[in-house]
Amino acid sequence: MFEIQITEKKFWENQVEGYVFLLKEGLYSINLQSDFERIEKDFYPNLREILKKHKFTGKKGDLFVLTANKDNKLIQLIFVGLGKLDTAWNYELENLRRAIGSIVLKLKELEIKDTVICLPEDDKPFGLIRDRLIRQIVIAAIMADYEFIKFKSDKINEAGFTGKLLLYVGAKQEQTFAIGLQEGIVIGNATNFTRNLADLPANYLTPKALAQEAKNLADEYDLECKVLEKKDAEKLSMGGFLAVSSGSDNEPQFVVLEYNSDKKDIPTIALVGKGVTFDSGGISLKPSDYMTGMKFDMSGAAAVYGAMKIIAQLKPNVHVVAITPLVENMPSGKACRQDDIIRFLNGKTAEIKNTDAEGRLILADALSYAEKFYNPEVIIDIATLTGACLYALGHFFTGLMTRNDDIGTKLQAVGLVTGDRVWPLPMDEDFKDAIKSEVADIANTGAANYKAGTITASWFLKNFVEKSKWAHLDIAGTADGVPGVSYIGKGASGAGVRLLSEFVLNYNKSK
Ligand code: BES
Ligand code: MG
Ligand code: ZN
Repeated sequence: MFEIQITEKKFWENQVEGYVFLLKEGLYSINLQSDFERIEKDFYPNLREILKKHKFTGKKGDLFVLTANKDNKLIQLIFVGLGKLDTAWNYELENLRRAIGSIVLKLKELEIKDTVICLPEDDKPFGLIRDRLIRQIVIAAIMADYEFIKFKSDKINEAGFTGKLLLYVGAKQEQTFAIGLQEGIVIGNATNFTRNLADLPANYLTPKALAQEAKNLADEYDLECKVLEKKDAEKLSMGGFLAVSSGSDNEPQFVVLEYNSDKKDIPTIALVGKGVTFDSGGISLKPSDYMTGMKFDMSGAAAVYGAMKIIAQLKPNVHVVAITPLVENMPSGKACRQDDIIRFLNGKTAEIKNTDAEGRLILADALSYAEKFYNPEVIIDIATLTGACLYALGHFFTGLMTRNDDIGTKLQAVGLVTGDRVWPLPMDEDFKDAIKSEVADIANTGAANYKAGTITASWFLKNFVEKSKWAHLDIAGTADGVPGVSYIGKGASGAGVRLLSEFVLNYNKSK
């Protein structure tokens, strides 16, 4: 694990092994032009030729290491490309995060212990005030350091690579950037906490084990935590939650985690996360190739926990209630069947056409629960809900469905700044009839001729939100397997943690 600090010393006065230079395309240093020249003077007079020879032009993704001798010690000069600086869509900020990610990976690979990175000195580099920029850099560095190695005997027994990452913020030291650093550490660590939960397999992370994680958060950060057991759900007739869990030997847990529960006169935001610890499909069993990877089906709940971990530490002036139904979707003699009709907490009925469309069933009760007991101003739910979302948007954008433009615009904007990006799909009335049923109020799958399974699923959910402003996030594509993003790497990505926490942190400020 890295330790990240802001260095007080001048760039070259840091006695470290690695010196990092961020360069724009065309080999322009974003800072310290003079120090770039110092490399030419002290180490490599023909530096630009060397870089060109190695095809380093400062394109995004470029990274080149040159070894030199400084004060009789070997040092590594690390050049990293940022590509063209272009403020459109915050690409340059995302490129910077990825450059930071590649640096961290390189430091680990070459076991370069302590390293200083030279950051831009101008007032609003990359469109952010500098403290906010530091925050983004710290988050990316911490995320890049994540690996799921718990079960890799050789790696877990190694001491692991440790080093210091020093951020050099320029000659003008008038600001401390302590807040950006501290908040970045909180957010980065919480995102990795979520990724670890999503990466844990279902034989370790049962609904009970996941509920325990929520209880631990409550203990650590002084949150309220309530866990409804099966019998409590029966009393409330939460038929969706009960039906999905009925096939499994692992008891379901309906977890409610609250921040600022005792504060009055502040807005309430409900965060609802799908927590299916394993999705076999149930009686509508998934073909085995499609079942692999379904340990990740609790990524929505895990994202909500990660966001709560951040919220509890950074303390925005809002009341946040996290509602996470935790179940395992398994086939058995007790499992819910196709053709079954179930009744939810809000009294509505649904015909089960496919037991693999289980996420919406547990979310239905969770959304109803949020409205019934908390009357929130805003509800955001997050779920690995539909395979169709992977086809529609792939791995880089979370599907956003809402009929509230204000919330939608805010989520999109927060997505671009944090790199936890979302893209809207139309929740148009035309899709509404796709979930009609002959025998119940609604059916749990969209009629085949409507296609657009991601959107029809959101219309199912809409039946359970009557009063609140509401947005639905489908992270089926973004929660894991994101290709080619240095700071995300393999496995779970923590999709939604940065997005939800930032949305909540900004909420009562922007109004
Ligand atoms: N957890 C899955 C969604 C999923 C599938 C995510 C593949 C990532 C990859 C969800 O519970 C599911 O099985 N959805 C079905 C719905 C269908 C039966 C209407 C799907 O998408 O196939
Ligand atoms: Mg399913
Ligand atoms: Zn599922």
